Amino acid sequence: MKKNKTVLYIAIVGLAALFILGVAYAQDDIISLEHDIFVERERPAALFPHALHTDKAEIDCLECHHIYKDGENVWDDSEETVCTTCHTLETHDKKLPAMRAFHANCKGCHTKEGKGPLTCGECHPREK
Ligand code: HEC
Ligand code: HEC
Ligand code: HEC
Ligand code: HEC
Repeated sequence: MKKNKTVLYIAIVGLAALFILGVAYAQDDIISLEHDIFVERERPAALFPHALHTDKAEIDCLECHHIYKDGENVWDDSEETVCTTCHTLETHDKKLPAMRAFHANCKGCHTKEGKGPLTCGECHPREK
């Protein structure tokens, strides 16, 4: 009997710890993708859990970050990370304008993988 109670106790403490860690992880991680180039926003800024993508889903940095030199992606983590530095409201060269660049990246992969949100409200949640 006593042993059963100990096991139960450990299970409860363990679950509580996991829950707290899970919440902390989720909160620390979310990046609100607020860019000042969108002056009159139509939607609340998209939320992007960065560490979930790199750590849990184990997606390579180069899937999203890039600097192209001679058609090759030479990005490393000392380089530019802000997408709107290059993808502005208008198209230049072969680059996509900002909104299409984000949507192509995010929705493109979620569609391909069959994982991750695809509806507007899941990425652009209404402000509380
Ligand atoms: C699924 C797409 C995706 C992957 C994979 C990804 N990133 Fe990012 N990262 C982004 C986006 C989107 C932003 C925000 C860009 C913006 O605000 O314009 C960002 C921002 C950043 C920033 C600046 C903000 C911050 O948190 O300090 C750094 C640094 C960064 N990424 C590094 C990395 C590294 C290193 C890797 C690989 C281990 C990686 N990223 C993988 C999409 C990604
Ligand atoms: C240093 C400038 C630069 C930055 C920063 C940048 N891009 Fe790009 N991006 C480009 C260029 C240039 C192209 C066109 C490449 C080509 O010739 O096909 C491109 C192409 C794309 C494409 C089309 C598919 C592909 O990969 O070629 C998508 C989608 C995209 N970018 C999304 C993003 C996102 C999301 C971010 C931020 C995480 C980002 N870009 C940051 C310059 C940049
Ligand atoms: C290269 C693939 C890839 C790209 C690019 C990508 N995602 Fe994801 N995303 C995923 C996968 C895989 C999951 C499911 C992760 C899991 O739960 O294991 C996911 C899950 C999510 C979730 C749900 C998180 C949760 O709590 O369940 C959100 C929100 C999200 N992505 C937003 C974005 C946004 C915003 C972008 C673009 C800036 C983006 N993603 C780009 C692959 C991608
Ligand atoms: C997978 C995630 C994802 C989905 C799904 C998604 N978006 Fe976005 N969207 C983004 C990201 C990331 C940006 C760039 C960051 C930002 O400004 O929110 C963006 C930017 C925008 C912008 C430009 C900024 C503004 O508010 O004026 C509009 C408009 C927009 N999205 C509308 C939509 C609509 C409408 C839908 C549904 C049909 C949708 N999005 C679905 C991720 C998503």
